[in-house]
Amino acid sequence: MKKLKVGVVFGGQSGEHEVSRVSAASVMRVMDKSKYDILPIGISKEGKWYIFEGDLSKIEDGSWQQEAIPALLPPNTDYKCIITLENGMQTKYNLDVIFPVLHGPRGEDGTIQGIFELMNIPYVGCGVSSSAICMDKVFAKMILRQEGLPVVDYKVYHKKALSLALPDIIAEIESSFGYPCFVKPANMGSSVGISKAHDRSKLETALHTAADYDVKVLVEAFIDAREIECSVLGNENPKASIPGEIIPSNEFYDYTAKYCDGGKSKLLIPAPLTAETVKKIQELAIKAFKTLDCSGMARVDFLLSKVSGTLYINELNTIPGFTSISMYPKMWEASGLTYIQLIDELIELAIKRHQQKQQLKLY
Ligand SMILES: Nc1ncnc2c1ncn2[C@@H]1O[C@H](COP(=O)(O)OP(=O)(O)O)[C@@H](O)[C@H]1O
Ligand SMILES: [Mg+2]
Repeated sequence: MKKLKVGVVFGGQSGEHEVSRVSAASVMRVMDKSKYDILPIGISKEGKWYIFEGDLSKIEDGSWQQEAIPALLPPNTDYKCIITLENGMQTKYNLDVIFPVLHGPRGEDGTIQGIFELMNIPYVGCGVSSSAICMDKVFAKMILRQEGLPVVDYKVYHKKALSLALPDIIAEIESSFGYPCFVKPANMGSSVGISKAHDRSKLETALHTAADYDVKVLVEAFIDAREIECSVLGNENPKASIPGEIIPSNEFYDYTAKYCDGGKSKLLIPAPLTAETVKKIQELAIKAFKTLDCSGMARVDFLLSKVSGTLYINELNTIPGFTSISMYPKMWEASGLTYIQLIDELIELAIKRHQQKQQLKLY
């Protein structure tokens, strides 16, 4: 059988650049070399593209860029390849499928998926619109709510309005949600720009912080909740994994608790839940996945109220953390699908979706 040429894209211009490098190195380390020819494609924090064929540990420790060769991915259906330019020499590396292992804006938000669409090449994960919608917490909530799926109450403010009518906005938030409340930039990840505001002065700071990252700011009611996650995999008939639970080491699952606490945040797989709750979570996860038109994969994150037992869909991550110890692959492992099988299945799903799209009329 001919080996598939897989471009694995890592890094990128987001606050999750480092996490992406670790996820991607993990993926490439386990990918079956008898099935795949792997081409690592790195994007620097400045947005420069490279090919890097050196040691995977250099992707993890960040030194990869010193030995990388500048490259470009032409959005041209004639060139299903990445091209390197070195000393005036041009080399083409053909690609059969692309696996973007990028998190956050410009990686998980439909922008890079747009290039893959223009190239007309199969790629792992959600398409342009579902990536964009899942990245935008406001759009995602609007659509989930419209379809009757449970989301936490929220309000949205534009950066401009915050500068013009801050006292009115603060009064509205206080009367709608009180304290504490959560303030988030609409498009971010890894808890970057998110605050839990305990009083008026913290709320004011929190609104400005969120507005540093996005012109659209989201304020939510605080839910005293357990954090439950569920992995979904598939195209038209997605399946849901056994749910897991996060016990953050901080007051909430902020950036430090996610990446910098030396493993003090606990991941419980399976989450200690009744069979009935597990079933409900899996049903909601699949409904959310279908509602937001996801394909390939998504990790659906829930808040399970400790007070009322109500389940809320907090967000969908279309390219979830993907190291061998990340929740998405771990929840699949607990459900009987190994990390290696998971990667094979994602690549297969990418090719199937692409083949299906080829049957559609373009004009
Ligand atoms: N409404 C809320 N009530 C309680 N905790 C919340 C709420 N929204 C977010 N959190 C906490 O903040 C963390 C990050 O928020 P989230 O919406 O998941 O953003 P991100 O996309 O950055 O992960 C969550 O994992 C949770 O710990
Ligand atoms: Mg989250």
